[in-house]
Amino acid sequence: MKKLFSIFTFGLTALSALAGITWEQIEPGVWRTNAGTPEEYNLLSVAGCAPLSEGFSRLPETTLPAFADSIKWEIVDGKTYIRIPLDRDEQLYGFGLNFQTVHQRGKILNLHVDHYGGKDTGRTHAPVPFYVSSNGYGVFINSARYLTVYAGSGARKDSPDAPEAKDRNLDKTWTANPYSDAVSILVPAEGAEIYVIGGPTAMDAIRRYNLLCGGGTLPPRWGLGFTQRTQKLYDAETVIAEADDFEKNGFPLDFIGLEPGWQSRAYPCTLEWDSTRYPDPVSFISEMDKRNVRINLWTNPYISPDSKIYDEIYPHTGSHTVWCGIVPDFATASARKIWKDKLQKEHLDIGVSGFKIDEIDGYDRYLWPDVATFPSGVAAEQMRQTYGLWVQRTTNDLFHAMNKRTFGLVRGSNGGGSSFPYVIYNDYYSHKDFITALINSGFSGVLWTPEVRNSTTPEEWLRRFQSVVFSPMAMINAWASGTKPWSFPEVSDRIREYAMLRMQMMPYWYSEFARYHFDGIPPFRAMNLEPGFTASAINELKEASLNDNPYLEAVTKEIKDQYMAGEYLLVAPMFVGETSRKVILPAGDWYDFYTGEYAGNGETIEVTPGLDRIPVYVKDGAIIPMTSPRLHAPKAGEKFDLEIRHYGKSDGSYRLYDDDGETFGYENGDYSWRDIKVTRAKNGKLQGSISKAVKGKPDNIGKVSWKFMTQN
Ligand code: GAL
Repeated sequence: MKKLFSIFTFGLTALSALAGITWEQIEPGVWRTNAGTPEEYNLLSVAGCAPLSEGFSRLPETTLPAFADSIKWEIVDGKTYIRIPLDRDEQLYGFGLNFQTVHQRGKILNLHVDHYGGKDTGRTHAPVPFYVSSNGYGVFINSARYLTVYAGSGARKDSPDAPEAKDRNLDKTWTANPYSDAVSILVPAEGAEIYVIGGPTAMDAIRRYNLLCGGGTLPPRWGLGFTQRTQKLYDAETVIAEADDFEKNGFPLDFIGLEPGWQSRAYPCTLEWDSTRYPDPVSFISEMDKRNVRINLWTNPYISPDSKIYDEIYPHTGSHTVWCGIVPDFATASARKIWKDKLQKEHLDIGVSGFKIDEIDGYDRYLWPDVATFPSGVAAEQMRQTYGLWVQRTTNDLFHAMNKRTFGLVRGSNGGGSSFPYVIYNDYYSHKDFITALINSGFSGVLWTPEVRNSTTPEEWLRRFQSVVFSPMAMINAWASGTKPWSFPEVSDRIREYAMLRMQMMPYWYSEFARYHFDGIPPFRAMNLEPGFTASAINELKEASLNDNPYLEAVTKEIKDQYMAGEYLLVAPMFVGETSRKVILPAGDWYDFYTGEYAGNGETIEVTPGLDRIPVYVKDGAIIPMTSPRLHAPKAGEKFDLEIRHYGKSDGSYRLYDDDGETFGYENGDYSWRDIKVTRAKNGKLQGSISKAVKGKPDNIGKVSWKFMTQN
């Protein structure tokens, strides 16, 4: 019987190959085809986001990339084998949240949601099956299965571009990893949707992918301020005192995260307040509110036998437990409703601003096994791949229904998650690899924070703090350490200065996130996406022959410790023990962020910034809108002053985004873009202008002053 079946499916494959691939253009520059019979339960169906169609109008026109019709697939043994051709000199990026390399060509990855285990094997918090190529296109496989990816590894005997056999005895160019002409993907199901996403640049393909997933998330303004996660067993009084200490010491604070001890039992979780530590959550939250500090709650979704919802949700949970808690089957509307009602009643109704949803990623020995079953019939494997999407989607829906934006943390995500207001984090705590993860997050429609926990020296504390300030979430996670920003007195003035810089830069960060939402441009991203950045790992290899397979070797030379933050900033973090570092500047004039002095053009510079500075460079003509130092983000309707900085010698322009900063009014057009321009007057002096707020739209801008950072 089995044999007959496979003959039958082979027949079908042959038919589809004869007829050619039918590509359906579903958005400008986004084409989809079905390989085999795709499963209905997939990443995009779980994420449930509608494409942000309007955003595609600002992208250049593009045509179906030529290679698309050469994609091949076959169904073998109930699985789908997909083969996507590669050119010899193509570089590949993406495949989710990798921590150790930016270039992915040559890798073999098992895309599997998991807590990161210290090696880029594909098991990671967001193993997004989307990649982009230096040839300017992207490919997305919309499947909720564990995919095996051979990203340019494995050579076929019938390839027109097959590697040449060599004699290992005498030929020094013999390689154990011969060249491969394809990305091969194994989908353990009888089909999958394949998306080919056009450019013309890799950045354009990323933008289209994010827009396909609903556009990037737009956090509330307060989400871009500073956040502290307090020690696990803090009680209400201690948390209030901590907020007061921030104020007294002059450190900004927009939200505090409570770690497991706010719950009566964890883990598994009751989702209920602990009555000894938090006897009156309503007045606790209102006290915090008076201090302009919001509350975010840690939880995991595994329900404790002591929770009041245990009996009700029991029939809608999976066969296996996690730490003896039952596992809601979020693929059923009933489990979602019980969970949502609980969060609504216990948390949202009393003013909780968001969640940190932990432990939905792995490890295998913690989570449900692959033999677990769920009432919805969704396989354990699919549940594992999509649980992070489910918790983001359901909580996002709750806040959306209240017309309140949220910004929280989650430890697992996947393809389709770009529009969810969540930042990924983990326990791995390698400062260097955290920066590489930040770079890679931009290829995959996810956000990442290189959180600060504790440090062994003031130097490490300051270095980590400096880089978290240039990331999507500026956070100290003191759940175990109890650290505060001022924990290392030797550097606490510097820490305060950087925490304030984060607040001062809020108009810039907010506009860059608006671009993420409306245009799909990731706010934090790799140098490789920056025009004029020509450093290529392959070029650095002196004797690289593309007839062999130099890709795995090339990653040893790649740039994975500097990145772009928004339209104009290049950030080059310093790590413990370093007094100097190399920074590769793309073509064009670049200037020092702090002084406005010329730094270089298309060259590698060696910098010795001192402990008090994280090197940051700014493009010629850049405009960075800043505001005055402040302890909390402006509230809806609150005016704030602008100090608009200009760098370099060229004219500049910037589009400043403004809305109420808290609601979803922007989805109905309640926002404005203000045009900022700097031009040179006849007398040679630079002068700036900003367009008026659109009539009837939010206008939070108070006084405007100008600072021309570069002396002529
Ligand atoms: C870990 C999480 C930490 C912290 C801790 C609390 O799983 O990664 O950030 O929340 O749990 O128990």
